[in-house]
Amino acid sequence: MEAVILHGGQGTRLRPLTHTGPKQLIKVAGKPVSQWVLEQIRDAGIKHVIIVLGDNIPTKVTEYYGDGSRFGVEITYVYQGKARGLADAVYKVKDVVSDKFLVYLGDNIVSYDLRRFMEFNGSASILLAKVENPNRFGVAVVENGKVVKLVEKPKEPISDLALVGVYAFTKDVFDVIEGLKPSWRGELEITDALQGLINRGKDVNYEIVEGWWKDTGTPKDILDANAFLLDKYAEKRVEGEIENSTLDGRVIVEKGAVIKNSVIRGPAYIGKGSKVINSYVGSFTSVGDNCEIIESEIEYSVLLDNVKVKGVALMDSIIGNNSIVEKGKRWQKLIIGENSSVIL
Ligand code: DAU
Repeated sequence: MEAVILHGGQGTRLRPLTHTGPKQLIKVAGKPVSQWVLEQIRDAGIKHVIIVLGDNIPTKVTEYYGDGSRFGVEITYVYQGKARGLADAVYKVKDVVSDKFLVYLGDNIVSYDLRRFMEFNGSASILLAKVENPNRFGVAVVENGKVVKLVEKPKEPISDLALVGVYAFTKDVFDVIEGLKPSWRGELEITDALQGLINRGKDVNYEIVEGWWKDTGTPKDILDANAFLLDKYAEKRVEGEIENSTLDGRVIVEKGAVIKNSVIRGPAYIGKGSKVINSYVGSFTSVGDNCEIIESEIEYSVLLDNVKVKGVALMDSIIGNNSIVEKGKRWQKLIIGENSSVIL
Protein backbone atom coordinates (compact mmCIF):
# COMPACT_ATOMS: atom_id res chain seq x y z
CA MET A 1 0.00 0.00 0.00
CA GLU A 2 1.27 3.46 -0.91
CA ALA A 3 0.55 6.79 0.73
CA VAL A 4 0.06 9.90 -1.37
CA ILE A 5 0.82 13.32 0.13
CA LEU A 6 -0.78 16.25 -1.69
CA HIS A 7 1.78 19.05 -1.75
CA GLY A 8 0.26 21.44 -4.29
CA GLY A 9 -2.42 24.12 -3.94
CA GLN A 10 -2.33 27.89 -3.75
CA GLY A 11 -1.92 28.71 -0.06
CA THR A 12 -3.57 32.11 -0.62
CA ARG A 13 -4.77 32.49 2.96
CA LEU A 14 -1.19 32.12 4.18
CA ARG A 15 0.31 34.88 2.05
CA PRO A 16 2.89 36.38 2.32
CA LEU A 17 4.41 33.20 3.81
CA THR A 18 3.48 31.27 0.66
CA HIS A 19 4.91 33.76 -1.84
CA THR A 20 8.19 31.88 -1.67
CA GLY A 21 7.14 28.24 -1.34
CA PRO A 22 4.35 25.80 -0.62
CA LYS A 23 2.43 26.13 2.65
CA GLN A 24 3.12 22.50 3.56
CA LEU A 25 6.81 23.39 4.10
CA ILE A 26 6.06 25.92 6.86
CA LYS A 27 7.79 24.60 9.98
CA VAL A 28 5.80 23.97 13.14
CA ALA A 29 7.43 22.57 16.27
CA GLY A 30 10.71 22.29 14.34
CA LYS A 31 9.53 20.44 11.20
CA PRO A 32 7.55 21.26 8.05
CA VAL A 33 3.86 20.38 8.38
CA SER A 34 4.25 17.78 5.60
CA GLN A 35 7.18 16.16 7.44
CA TRP A 36 4.90 15.49 10.42
CA VAL A 37 2.55 13.85 7.89
CA LEU A 38 5.32 11.83 6.25
CA GLU A 39 6.66 10.55 9.58
CA GLN A 40 3.16 9.54 10.72
CA ILE A 41 2.76 7.57 7.47
CA ARG A 42 6.18 5.93 7.90
CA ASP A 43 5.45 5.04 11.53
CA ALA A 44 2.25 3.32 10.39
CA GLY A 45 4.45 0.99 8.33
CA ILE A 46 4.04 2.47 4.83
CA LYS A 47 7.42 2.78 3.14
CA HIS A 48 6.45 3.99 -0.33
CA VAL A 49 5.30 7.62 -0.37
CA ILE A 50 4.17 9.51 -3.45
CA ILE A 51 4.35 13.30 -3.22
CA VAL A 52 2.15 15.26 -5.63
CA LEU A 53 3.82 18.59 -6.45
CA GLY A 54 2.13 21.87 -7.30
CA ASP A 55 3.51 24.86 -9.19
CA ASN A 56 4.68 26.97 -6.22
CA ILE A 57 8.47 26.35 -6.34
CA PRO A 58 8.17 22.54 -6.24
CA THR A 59 11.98 22.23 -6.26
CA LYS A 60 11.90 23.34 -2.59
CA VAL A 61 9.96 20.13 -1.86
CA THR A 62 12.18 17.80 -3.90
CA GLU A 63 15.33 19.37 -2.42
CA TYR A 64 14.04 18.97 1.14
CA TYR A 65 12.76 15.39 0.90
CA GLY A 66 15.13 14.01 -1.79
CA ASP A 67 14.65 10.30 -2.40
CA GLY A 68 13.19 9.91 1.11
CA SER A 69 16.07 7.86 2.53
CA ARG A 70 16.82 10.56 5.15
CA PHE A 71 13.29 9.94 6.48
CA GLY A 72 13.26 6.13 6.15
CA VAL A 73 10.87 6.01 3.16
CA GLU A 74 11.09 5.77 -0.62
CA ILE A 75 9.60 8.80 -2.37
CA THR A 76 8.19 9.03 -5.90
CA TYR A 77 7.32 12.53 -7.14
CA VAL A 78 4.39 13.21 -9.43
CA TYR A 79 3.79 16.66 -10.88
CA GLN A 80 0.31 18.18 -10.80
CA GLY A 81 1.28 21.79 -11.50
CA LYS A 82 -1.66 24.21 -11.42
CA ALA A 83 -4.11 23.50 -8.58
CA ARG A 84 -7.10 22.04 -10.42
CA GLY A 85 -8.55 20.34 -7.35
CA LEU A 86 -7.93 17.40 -5.05
CA ALA A 87 -9.49 14.89 -7.47
CA ASP A 88 -7.20 16.15 -10.26
CA ALA A 89 -4.19 15.74 -7.92
CA VAL A 90 -5.28 12.20 -6.98
CA TYR A 91 -5.80 11.25 -10.63
CA LYS A 92 -2.14 12.07 -11.29
CA VAL A 93 -1.04 9.01 -9.24
CA LYS A 94 -3.16 6.57 -11.31
CA ASP A 95 -0.17 4.78 -12.81
CA VAL A 96 2.02 4.61 -9.70
CA VAL A 97 -0.29 3.15 -7.04
CA SER A 98 -1.40 -0.42 -6.43
CA ASP A 99 -5.02 -1.34 -5.74
CA LYS A 100 -5.31 0.30 -2.31
CA PHE A 101 -3.73 3.59 -1.34
CA LEU A 102 -3.95 6.35 1.24
CA VAL A 103 -4.24 10.06 0.45
CA TYR A 104 -3.16 12.60 3.07
CA LEU A 105 -3.50 16.37 2.53
CA GLY A 106 -0.02 17.74 3.19
CA ASP A 107 -1.34 20.69 5.20
CA ASN A 108 -3.35 18.62 7.68
CA ILE A 109 -2.29 17.31 11.08
CA VAL A 110 -4.55 14.48 12.19
CA SER A 111 -4.07 12.56 15.43
CA TYR A 112 -5.35 9.17 14.34
CA ASP A 113 -4.02 5.62 14.18
CA LEU A 114 -3.43 5.20 10.46
CA ARG A 115 -2.83 1.44 10.82
CA ARG A 116 -6.45 1.07 11.82
CA PHE A 117 -7.65 3.26 8.99
CA MET A 118 -5.63 1.33 6.38
CA GLU A 119 -7.64 -1.85 6.95
CA PHE A 120 -10.72 -0.59 5.12
CA ASN A 121 -13.40 -2.38 3.14
CA GLY A 122 -15.37 -1.06 0.18
CA SER A 123 -14.13 1.31 -2.50
CA ALA A 124 -13.04 4.10 -0.18
CA SER A 125 -12.89 5.18 3.42
CA ILE A 126 -12.89 8.67 4.92
CA LEU A 127 -12.16 10.22 8.28
CA LEU A 128 -14.83 12.49 9.70
CA ALA A 129 -14.88 14.91 12.63
CA LYS A 130 -17.63 17.00 14.19
CA VAL A 131 -17.07 20.71 13.52
CA GLU A 132 -18.78 23.97 14.37
CA ASN A 133 -18.15 25.58 10.97
CA PRO A 134 -19.07 22.90 8.39
CA ASN A 135 -19.30 25.43 5.56
CA ARG A 136 -15.48 25.60 5.56
CA PHE A 137 -15.14 21.87 4.75
CA GLY A 138 -16.49 18.98 2.74
CA VAL A 139 -19.21 17.29 4.82
CA ALA A 140 -20.79 13.84 4.90
CA VAL A 141 -24.28 12.68 5.79
CA VAL A 142 -24.19 9.33 7.55
CA GLU A 143 -27.14 6.95 7.96
CA ASN A 144 -27.10 3.53 9.63
CA GLY A 145 -23.31 3.39 9.62
CA LYS A 146 -23.01 4.28 5.92
CA VAL A 147 -22.02 7.45 4.10
CA VAL A 148 -25.01 8.38 1.95
CA LYS A 149 -24.24 11.91 0.76
CA LEU A 150 -21.26 14.26 0.51
CA VAL A 151 -21.16 17.96 -0.29
CA GLU A 152 -18.11 20.24 -0.61
CA LYS A 153 -18.38 23.46 1.46
CA PRO A 154 -22.19 23.33 1.76
CA LYS A 155 -24.06 26.65 1.69
CA GLU A 156 -27.06 25.05 3.48
CA PRO A 157 -26.24 23.04 6.63
CA ILE A 158 -26.73 19.33 5.91
CA SER A 159 -24.26 17.79 8.37
CA ASP A 160 -21.68 18.86 10.95
CA LEU A 161 -19.39 15.94 10.10
CA ALA A 162 -16.44 17.36 8.16
CA LEU A 163 -14.09 15.40 5.93
CA VAL A 164 -10.71 15.41 7.62
CA GLY A 165 -7.77 15.44 5.21
CA VAL A 166 -7.09 11.68 5.15
CA TYR A 167 -8.69 9.31 2.64
CA ALA A 168 -8.24 5.68 1.59
CA PHE A 169 -9.13 4.54 -1.93
CA THR A 170 -9.13 1.60 -4.26
CA LYS A 171 -8.48 2.18 -7.95
CA ASP A 172 -12.30 2.44 -8.45
CA VAL A 173 -11.93 6.16 -7.79
CA PHE A 174 -10.07 6.78 -11.06
CA ASP A 175 -13.07 5.79 -13.24
CA VAL A 176 -15.24 8.25 -11.33
CA ILE A 177 -12.71 11.09 -11.58
CA GLU A 178 -12.61 10.64 -15.37
CA GLY A 179 -16.29 11.67 -15.48
CA LEU A 180 -16.13 14.60 -13.02
CA LYS A 181 -16.98 18.20 -13.95
CA PRO A 182 -15.36 21.20 -12.19
CA SER A 183 -17.28 22.54 -9.18
CA TRP A 184 -18.48 26.13 -8.68
CA ARG A 185 -14.94 27.01 -7.54
CA GLY A 186 -13.52 25.58 -10.76
CA GLU A 187 -11.91 22.54 -9.15
CA LEU A 188 -12.32 18.77 -9.52
CA GLU A 189 -13.46 17.92 -6.00
CA ILE A 190 -12.50 14.70 -4.24
CA THR A 191 -15.78 15.09 -2.34
CA ASP A 192 -17.65 14.79 -5.68
CA ALA A 193 -15.55 11.73 -6.58
CA LEU A 194 -16.65 10.06 -3.32
CA GLN A 195 -20.27 10.95 -4.11
CA GLY A 196 -19.73 9.43 -7.56
CA LEU A 197 -18.64 6.14 -5.96
CA ILE A 198 -21.83 6.10 -3.88
CA ASN A 199 -23.93 6.88 -6.98
CA ARG A 200 -22.40 3.80 -8.64
CA GLY A 201 -23.49 1.65 -5.71
CA LYS A 202 -20.02 1.35 -4.17
CA ASP A 203 -19.43 1.46 -0.43
CA VAL A 204 -17.72 4.47 1.15
CA ASN A 205 -16.89 3.72 4.77
CA TYR A 206 -15.96 6.17 7.48
CA GLU A 207 -14.36 6.51 10.87
CA ILE A 208 -14.80 9.32 13.35
CA VAL A 209 -11.77 11.23 14.66
CA GLU A 210 -12.24 12.02 18.33
CA GLY A 211 -8.76 13.46 18.81
CA TRP A 212 -7.17 16.67 17.64
CA TRP A 213 -6.87 17.61 13.96
CA LYS A 214 -6.14 20.75 12.05
CA ASP A 215 -6.20 21.97 8.47
CA THR A 216 -3.37 24.51 8.64
CA GLY A 217 -4.89 26.86 6.07
CA THR A 218 -4.66 30.14 8.02
CA PRO A 219 -2.04 31.85 10.27
CA LYS A 220 -4.14 31.06 13.36
CA ASP A 221 -4.19 27.37 12.32
CA ILE A 222 -0.38 27.38 12.02
CA LEU A 223 -0.01 28.80 15.54
CA ASP A 224 -2.49 26.27 16.94
CA ALA A 225 -0.83 23.34 15.14
CA ASN A 226 2.53 24.46 16.50
CA ALA A 227 1.12 24.61 20.04
CA PHE A 228 -0.55 21.21 19.71
CA LEU A 229 2.57 19.48 18.35
CA LEU A 230 4.83 21.03 20.99
CA ASP A 231 2.41 20.01 23.70
CA LYS A 232 2.13 16.45 22.39
CA TYR A 233 5.71 15.67 21.36
CA ALA A 234 8.20 18.00 23.03
CA GLU A 235 10.46 16.23 25.57
CA LYS A 236 13.18 18.17 27.36
CA ARG A 237 16.34 17.90 25.24
CA VAL A 238 19.23 20.33 25.44
CA GLU A 239 22.08 19.98 22.94
CA GLY A 240 23.05 23.64 22.73
CA GLU A 241 24.92 25.87 25.21
CA ILE A 242 23.14 27.36 28.20
CA GLU A 243 24.67 30.26 30.10
CA ASN A 244 23.11 31.99 33.11
CA SER A 245 19.60 31.04 31.93
CA THR A 246 16.51 29.17 33.13
CA LEU A 247 14.84 26.48 31.04
CA ASP A 248 11.48 25.76 32.54
CA GLY A 249 9.71 22.50 31.57
CA ARG A 250 9.86 20.77 28.20
CA VAL A 251 12.30 22.85 26.22
CA ILE A 252 14.20 21.60 23.16
CA VAL A 253 17.47 23.37 22.38
CA GLU A 254 19.13 22.04 19.23
CA LYS A 255 22.89 21.74 18.52
CA GLY A 256 24.82 24.94 18.10
CA ALA A 257 22.12 27.09 19.75
CA VAL A 258 23.18 29.47 22.54
CA ILE A 259 20.89 30.63 25.35
CA LYS A 260 22.36 33.44 27.41
CA ASN A 261 20.85 35.51 30.29
CA SER A 262 17.38 34.32 29.25
CA VAL A 263 14.30 32.42 30.39
CA ILE A 264 12.62 29.80 28.20
CA ARG A 265 9.35 28.31 29.27
CA GLY A 266 8.28 25.02 27.69
CA PRO A 267 6.89 23.53 25.70
CA ALA A 268 9.15 25.42 23.32
CA TYR A 269 11.60 24.68 20.50
CA ILE A 270 14.87 26.48 19.69
CA GLY A 271 16.40 25.45 16.34
CA LYS A 272 20.02 24.74 15.36
CA GLY A 273 22.48 27.60 15.62
CA SER A 274 19.99 30.09 17.06
CA LYS A 275 20.93 32.63 19.73
CA VAL A 276 18.62 33.78 22.54
CA ILE A 277 20.19 36.60 24.51
CA ASN A 278 18.70 38.70 27.35
CA SER A 279 15.26 37.45 26.33
CA TYR A 280 12.15 35.55 27.39
CA VAL A 281 10.72 32.83 25.15
CA GLY A 282 7.32 31.72 26.39
CA SER A 283 5.32 28.51 26.02
CA PHE A 284 4.15 27.26 22.62
CA THR A 285 6.85 29.07 20.72
CA SER A 286 9.04 27.57 17.99
CA VAL A 287 12.20 29.31 16.88
CA GLY A 288 13.71 28.07 13.60
CA ASP A 289 17.38 27.55 12.70
CA ASN A 290 20.00 30.33 12.84
CA CYS A 291 17.72 32.93 14.42
CA GLU A 292 18.78 35.74 16.78
CA ILE A 293 16.48 36.79 19.60
CA ILE A 294 17.95 39.70 21.47
CA GLU A 295 16.37 41.68 24.34
CA SER A 296 12.93 40.42 23.34
CA GLU A 297 9.88 38.61 24.69
CA ILE A 298 8.08 36.08 22.49
CA GLU A 299 5.02 34.01 23.23
CA TYR A 300 2.75 31.61 21.30
CA SER A 301 4.62 32.35 18.08
CA VAL A 302 6.47 30.72 15.20
CA LEU A 303 9.75 32.13 13.93
CA LEU A 304 10.95 30.43 10.74
CA ASP A 305 14.66 30.25 9.79
CA ASN A 306 17.26 33.07 9.89
CA VAL A 307 14.95 35.50 11.68
CA LYS A 308 16.38 38.38 13.69
CA VAL A 309 14.32 39.91 16.49
CA LYS A 310 15.62 42.71 18.67
CA GLY A 311 13.97 44.75 21.43
CA VAL A 312 10.43 43.56 20.70
CA ALA A 313 7.56 41.84 22.50
CA LEU A 314 5.63 39.51 20.18
CA MET A 315 2.69 37.21 20.65
CA ASP A 316 0.49 35.22 18.23
CA SER A 317 3.02 36.06 15.50
CA ILE A 318 4.53 34.21 12.55
CA ILE A 319 7.77 35.59 11.15
CA GLY A 320 8.90 34.32 7.73
CA ASN A 321 12.40 33.20 6.78
CA ASN A 322 15.17 35.83 6.67
CA SER A 323 13.02 38.56 8.26
CA ILE A 324 14.13 41.23 10.71
CA VAL A 325 11.93 42.76 13.42
CA GLU A 326 13.50 45.45 15.55
CA LYS A 327 12.57 47.77 18.42
CA GLY A 328 8.82 47.65 18.88
CA LYS A 329 6.19 48.38 21.46
CA ARG A 330 4.70 45.49 23.47
CA TRP A 331 2.46 42.82 21.93
CA GLN A 332 2.38 43.77 18.32
CA LYS A 333 0.51 41.21 16.19
CA LEU A 334 2.45 40.39 13.03
CA ILE A 335 2.21 38.05 10.08
CA ILE A 336 5.37 38.67 8.06
CA GLY A 337 6.62 36.91 4.90
CA GLU A 338 10.13 35.91 3.88
CA ASN A 339 12.82 38.56 3.34
CA SER A 340 10.83 41.23 5.19
CA SER A 341 12.35 43.88 7.42
CA VAL A 342 10.20 45.64 10.01
CA ILE A 343 11.44 48.42 12.26
CA LEU A 344 8.68 49.39 14.70
O1 DAU B 1 -8.89 20.09 5.38
C1 DAU B 1 -9.96 19.29 5.04
C2 DAU B 1 -10.65 19.82 3.79
O2 DAU B 1 -9.67 19.83 2.73
C3 DAU B 1 -11.86 18.94 3.41
O3 DAU B 1 -12.87 19.05 4.37
C4 DAU B 1 -12.43 19.38 2.06
O4 DAU B 1 -13.46 18.52 1.67
C5 DAU B 1 -11.31 19.35 1.00
O5 DAU B 1 -11.80 19.82 -0.26
C6 DAU B 1 -10.14 20.22 1.44
O6 DAU B 1 -10.60 21.58 1.45
P1 DAU B 1 -9.62 22.85 1.38
O7 DAU B 1 -10.35 23.97 0.73
O8 DAU B 1 -9.07 23.10 2.75
O9 DAU B 1 -8.48 22.33 0.42
P2 DAU B 1 -7.14 23.05 0.01
O10 DAU B 1 -7.35 23.83 -1.25
O11 DAU B 1 -6.56 23.76 1.20
O12 DAU B 1 -6.21 21.82 -0.34
C7 DAU B 1 -5.94 20.79 0.57
C8 DAU B 1 -4.54 20.24 0.36
O13 DAU B 1 -4.36 19.70 -0.96
C9 DAU B 1 -3.43 21.24 0.52
O14 DAU B 1 -2.34 20.58 1.14
C10 DAU B 1 -3.10 21.65 -0.88
C11 DAU B 1 -3.34 20.38 -1.68
N1 DAU B 1 -3.83 20.60 -3.05
C12 DAU B 1 -4.96 21.34 -3.24
C13 DAU B 1 -5.47 21.53 -4.51
C14 DAU B 1 -6.74 22.34 -4.73
C15 DAU B 1 -3.17 20.03 -4.11
O15 DAU B 1 -2.13 19.35 -3.92
N2 DAU B 1 -3.67 20.22 -5.37
C16 DAU B 1 -4.80 20.96 -5.64
O16 DAU B 1 -5.20 21.10 -6.83
